[in-house]
Amino acid sequence: MTSRTTLIIGGTSGVGLAAARQLAAAGETVHVASRDAAKVATITDTAPELVAHQVDGNDAAAVAGLVAGLAPLDALVITLAGSEGAGALADLDLTALRRAFEAKFWPTLTVLQAALPHLAERASITLVGAVSAHAAMPGTAGIGALNAAVEALVRPLAVELAPRRVNAVSPGLIDTPWWSGMPEQARAEWFSSAAKGLPVGHVSSADEIAEAVVLASTNTSMTGAVLNIDGGARLVQF
Ligand SMILES: NC(=O)c1ccc[n+]([C@@H]2O[C@H](COP(=O)([O-])OP(=O)(O)OC[C@H]3O[C@@H](n4cnc5c(N)ncnc54)[C@H](OP(=O)(O)O)[C@@H]3O)[C@@H](O)[C@H]2O)c1
Repeated sequence: MTSRTTLIIGGTSGVGLAAARQLAAAGETVHVASRDAAKVATITDTAPELVAHQVDGNDAAAVAGLVAGLAPLDALVITLAGSEGAGALADLDLTALRRAFEAKFWPTLTVLQAALPHLAERASITLVGAVSAHAAMPGTAGIGALNAAVEALVRPLAVELAPRRVNAVSPGLIDTPWWSGMPEQARAEWFSSAAKGLPVGHVSSADEIAEAVVLASTNTSMTGAVLNIDGGARLVQF
């Protein structure tokens, strides 16, 4: 595992950054990429063990150029996402939900297709869905469909792209910068109340989810799997 080269699209924050640090600590050469130049520059300053790139997952040519420069790539991880699309059906903003697909489903597929010619013969691909694909939480029908669409890529691609491996991690609530749009106190109250309803009694850390990403990415017998690392959120209402 230690000689592998991994690229994490969305790896400048949250789960992707935590996975990048864990894989680099294990001796891999790890590249991370996202759109925001400031985030990319911060990685260069704060995590010099990582190689940071600026790229938009919706830009197929830019992704292909980046991956071609790393070819043959041993492992691709896609952790990008937007933050829109939740809401009860009666009031659901369908335009916002379309944007949510543009922010997660379509760039996921775009990155996969653009990277494909440059992947090693036995490369590993790891996607990230969400518990909304499995649970029955009111207000999540739209984002549940989005995350189910991402996770539905896993099984057919695990066969179609074999011997490359394709897996996904399906997290619940994670304490990452994804929540930074919510005022700090409201976020703390929401996490505290959600934790009480979760079987594990706490909101996941980025590192806990990253451990599953690392497992999916490195375990050479795992393919076609969706790992539910959600604190039991899919089992309860909270
Ligand atoms: N946080 C949660 O509670 C939670 C729960 C369930 C599932 N998830 C899923 O977990 C995954 C990781 O989320 P997170 O919490 O780690 O989020 P995060 O901290 O907001 O990180 C998302 C990363 O994706 C990048 N990104 C977004 N759009 C991109 C694009 N078009 N091209 C390239 N990079 C892009 C962002 O950087 P730039 O802005 O620089 O592009 C950022 O580095 C996502 O799939 C999310 O849906 C999160």
